[in-house]
Parts: sequence; C-alpha cells; structure tokens
Amino acid sequence: MANADSHVTIHMAASLDGFIARKDGRVDWLETSDEFAGGDTMDPAFVEAFLKTIDCYVMGSRTYETALRFEAQGFGWAYGDTPTFVLTTRDLPRNRDTVEFHSGDLARFVNERLRPAFRTIWFAGGGAVSAECLRLGLADEVRYSILPILIGDGIPFFDKLDRDVALHLAEVKAYKSGMVELRYDVRTE
Ligand SMILES: NC(=O)c1ccc[n+]([C@@H]2O[C@H](COP(=O)([O-])OP(=O)(O)OC[C@H]3O[C@@H](n4cnc5c(N)ncnc54)[C@H](OP(=O)(O)O)[C@@H]3O)[C@@H](O)[C@H]2O)c1
Repeated sequence: MANADSHVTIHMAASLDGFIARKDGRVDWLETSDEFAGGDTMDPAFVEAFLKTIDCYVMGSRTYETALRFEAQGFGWAYGDTPTFVLTTRDLPRNRDTVEFHSGDLARFVNERLRPAFRTIWFAGGGAVSAECLRLGLADEVRYSILPILIGDGIPFFDKLDRDVALHLAEVKAYKSGMVELRYDVRTE
C-alpha cells in the first residue's frame, strides 16, 4: 500500500552533454575548477542537515560497485547509516548492515515495500535504474546537477526512455563552483 506522504526523487550529477560517467565508469570529471562569481556557496552544515532528510537510497548494482571502489580507495561511504537498497540479480559483497539487495519487479518494490516504510526515497543512479524508475512512473521529482564540462561520450543520465516525461521546473540554483542544480516535479497530467 503506497504512503501518500512518501516522495521518490531521482538525483544525479551530469556533464552538460548529459553523461553521468565515462564509458568505463570513471567520474574523474566531477571535480571541476570553474568559478561563477554570482553563485551560492555550498554550506557543509546545510548539506549535512539535508542528507539527514533522506530516509533511504536506491541504486543499481553498477553504481553500488562504484561506491565500493571509492570506499576501497579511502574516499569513504557516501550514504552514511541510511538504509541503502541495491538492485541486482547477482550475488554481490555486502559491505555493511544498512545495505540490502533486491531483485525483480521495481514498481512493486517501491510501492509495496519502500513507500509504506520511508518518506523520502532517493534514487542515486545510475542511468539504467533512473530510466526504469521513470518508465514505470515511480518518480515524483528529478534533481539534475549539471557540471561545467562536456565529456563527449559516456553513460547517459536516462538510458533509453521509451516515452516523453513532462516535467515542471520547480527550482534553479547556481553555485560558485559553476554547478547548476535543477529540480523538477514529474507532471502527472
Ligand atoms: N554522476 C552521478 O551522479 C552518478 C550517480 C550514480 C551513478 N553514476 C555512475 O553511473 C554508472 C552506473 O550506471 P549504469 O546505468 O551503468 O548502471 P546502474 O543503473 O547503476 O545499474 C544497473 C544494474 O542494476 C541492476 N538492476 C537494475 N534494475 C534491476 C531490477 N529491477 N532488479 C534487479 N536488478 C536490477 C542490473 O544489474 P545486475 O547485473 O546486477 O542484475 C543492471 O545492470 C557508474 O559508473 C556510476 O559511477 C554516476
């Protein structure tokens, strides 16, 4: 039974040409050196408070494998103690108690398992899972952080959508780093 208060967000950072990673999965281009004088500064206290409002993360197995590699390289685990659901049909290593694996019908999983239990459900990528989420009409909101760089080729933000998805632009923020954050509501009519 879906909880009317629950909210599903898809969020990723992408290059201006719409890629979330290079073809080989590298995200080295996320560190840019631009400066936009009129932009806001990211306040670490605000970011920390904001992250606390996220009740659970959902991600594809390839995004999880990237997160595991980052952790192994000493960059830490980006998802804190927040429950993290990894979609996979494979038998992957589980790096902490907060990680749970799921395979199968994504709509049933979101509507019958996640929505009744969590208010703020955050899809953290990648492109395949984001597209599946949108195709199935599961997302309420899309947050797109555009970095000031073109990388020419890579893994697209939304992998092969089979229909139009109408959006309402709800918020635009530009940062000193040159990143622009777009927040859209997914329109249902
Ligand atoms: N720039 C950013 O903000 C950002 C954010 C996130 C990720 N990324 C990057 O994006 C890349 C990964 O994206 P991606 O599109 O290649 O892959 P992905 O969406 O992370 O993962 C796709 C995989 O998830 C599993 N899966 C998906 N739906 C499933 C379901 N309903 N049931 C069971 N398993 C399911 C399948 O793998 P199995 O074979 O395991 O079943 C599928 O191949 C990585 O390089 C990552 O670093 C970037």
